[in-house]
Amino acid sequence: MEFELMEWFQLAVRWIHMITGIAWIGASFYFVWLDMNLTPPEKEGCKDKAGVGGELWAVHGGGFYEVQKYRLAPPAIPQTLHWFKYEAYFTWISGFILLTILYYFGADIYLIDRSIADISTDAAILIGLGSIIGGWIIYDLLCKSPLINNQMIFGLVLFTLLTLASFGLSQVFSGRGAYIHVGAIMGTIMVANVLMIIIPGQVALVSAAKKGEPPDPVYGLRAKQRSLHNNYFTLPVLFIMISNHYPMTYGNPYGWLLLAGISLVGVLVRHFFNMKNQGRAKQGFILLPIAFVLFFAIAYAAAPKSEDAPTEKISFATVETIIHERCTSCHAAKPTNTDFETPPKGVRLETSAQIAREKTRIKQQTVDTKTMPLGNLTQMTDEERKIIRWWISQGASTD
Ligand code: HEC
Repeated sequence: MEFELMEWFQLAVRWIHMITGIAWIGASFYFVWLDMNLTPPEKEGCKDKAGVGGELWAVHGGGFYEVQKYRLAPPAIPQTLHWFKYEAYFTWISGFILLTILYYFGADIYLIDRSIADISTDAAILIGLGSIIGGWIIYDLLCKSPLINNQMIFGLVLFTLLTLASFGLSQVFSGRGAYIHVGAIMGTIMVANVLMIIIPGQVALVSAAKKGEPPDPVYGLRAKQRSLHNNYFTLPVLFIMISNHYPMTYGNPYGWLLLAGISLVGVLVRHFFNMKNQGRAKQGFILLPIAFVLFFAIAYAAAPKSEDAPTEKISFATVETIIHERCTSCHAAKPTNTDFETPPKGVRLETSAQIAREKTRIKQQTVDTKTMPLGNLTQMTDEERKIIRWWISQGASTD
């Protein structure tokens, strides 16, 4: 029996990462929605006098809920006050563990692509960690600069900087490694906003209220700015989380640009929902078709261009030799590559029947993108990729 403890550990951490991530983003969506849907108290009078600035009725799960938001603080801080922070912290912690196991312990496999940059494992990890820490420092400085007063310009500058990071990282890492680091930079900014700005602001708010002093409005203002940034980050970060299932994104030669484009789609959609929540759905509606068209324009632009057609018939023997030389060390029942106990993703490329059955995925992974061989560890050449493409365009026969 082979007990793959590491695989199971990874599965558990990934599961936790998803659960805490859903709890965090779900709560944050809910509060943004709540804030934007509050209405002034119905009857002028008692509630207003008690300091209630907005209220909202909802029905959910078989009950009616009445939520009230105080303009400042309630007259007394209640015994039980719920905070929302551990979801964020555990999402980051589990994400960081995953990043470490997969991309740092497995740097040679997932992070480094020697056909992109021939760097050492140590250098790759340092660049990765540096980009995450540096990302937060630059973002935080930006927030403390006068730029913060102009939302539009701030957004543009931040978007440009992140796109530059995406471009820079794609020059040193595998496509997948670059994507995950842009995600890690954004996720870290989001959680650091919670840890360093939003929660301390709330602590100050509560302690001022306990002393019966008016809270310093700067805390509220800062927390609001940072929450808004987090709000626009959510959809792009979620995209990056699922992107590793789609090599046509990160594996594209312009993967970094594609990431910027798809992130923009996410931001537009998020912006529409924010407008809708403010009762401006009609004005904002145009954003949806724009996002839709942009998404499919990206898909169209990213499509692999079909090139020259073959002149002679490609023999299956040639294809089989290439596959055995470049793929089978990992994709076999018993891989000879010691990093793998079992064939990755269950894909076996030993017999001609197996190769023929996987022809579509082989094309996706080696011709449409250069995702496989992983990190080009087995040094597949462009000439060989061309032969695979021709073989498939000729009907992928195994004769
Ligand atoms: C160094 C080991 C290694 C080599 C060499 C390698 N692969 Fe892979 N392959 C992997 C790993 C690991 C995965 C799973 C990637 C993931 O987790 O998404 C994979 C996944 C795949 C998949 C499934 C992709 C999916 O998500 O549906 C296909 C198809 C594939 N490889 C084809 C190939 C082909 C064709 C070659 C040779 C040209 C090749 N691989 C060479 C390690 C390797």
